[in-house]
Amino acid sequence: MKPARVVQLSLALSAAASLALTGVYWAGGQPQVEGGLLFLSLGGLALGLIVWAKVFMPRGPFVEARTPSGSSSSDREAVAADSEAPDDVLPRRAFFGRLFAGALTALGLAAVFPIRSLGSKPGRSLFETSWSTGARLVTRDGVAVRASDLEVGGVVTVFPEGHVDVADSQTLLVRVEEGEMEIPAGREDWSPGGNVAYSKICTHAGCPVGLFDQDLNQLICPCHQSAFQVLRAAEPISGPATRALPQLPLDVDAEGYLIARSDYEEPVGPGFWNRP
Ligand code: FES
Repeated sequence: MKPARVVQLSLALSAAASLALTGVYWAGGQPQVEGGLLFLSLGGLALGLIVWAKVFMPRGPFVEARTPSGSSSSDREAVAADSEAPDDVLPRRAFFGRLFAGALTALGLAAVFPIRSLGSKPGRSLFETSWSTGARLVTRDGVAVRASDLEVGGVVTVFPEGHVDVADSQTLLVRVEEGEMEIPAGREDWSPGGNVAYSKICTHAGCPVGLFDQDLNQLICPCHQSAFQVLRAAEPISGPATRALPQLPLDVDAEGYLIARSDYEEPVGPGFWNRP
């Protein structure tokens, strides 16, 4: 096959494959078909450019004549004869350029569509949980927890009432000796009767903080052994976590059940928002 034809077919194939890839993706996608079409798209583009460059681009070495020199009449006739040859010369540079631009545009179109796969915008969901003012603390079984239910040293995982399946709201309720706590300013009334609640989602990489060392009053994340001191607002004291577990403000309702004063005042989980 003539080189010019190879370039034409390769670029046309690339453009067609890119458009087909767009169509397949739009219709719901099929990984194997998409992979094959992407191969044809990129392969056609590469083959067309390689042949174009090797056959049709001028090749050196180039030597500039010292003085202008005109072509001989026989040279001019030879060039004129070549330009009339149908297939084995570059048909038109502009035509190749348009074909190349078309193939690139089609590929660009196919590359834009996967943005759809990113899903909907997260909105405020990363900054809010299902906790709200007055929500009772309930166990995974939906049993509401009273302020007197836990012994000192006890711990239980709790959720906001009606939302026991919401992962970002899981919270550790721990009972400690009230007098032993070092309470930060502004949180004096957040832990009635020594009941203190922290997000269960590790601030390092989001594992559930599942262990409690009663002797040391430390919550420990089993993933990378970050430890958080319960008596000092769950500040990290070892391991890779650098941010304290967010504390849930607690209160007690008229019937003696523990309730949330509000949602967490800061986002739970790994701290993407305070990283440079
Ligand atoms: S996820 Fe908890 S220490 Fe890494």
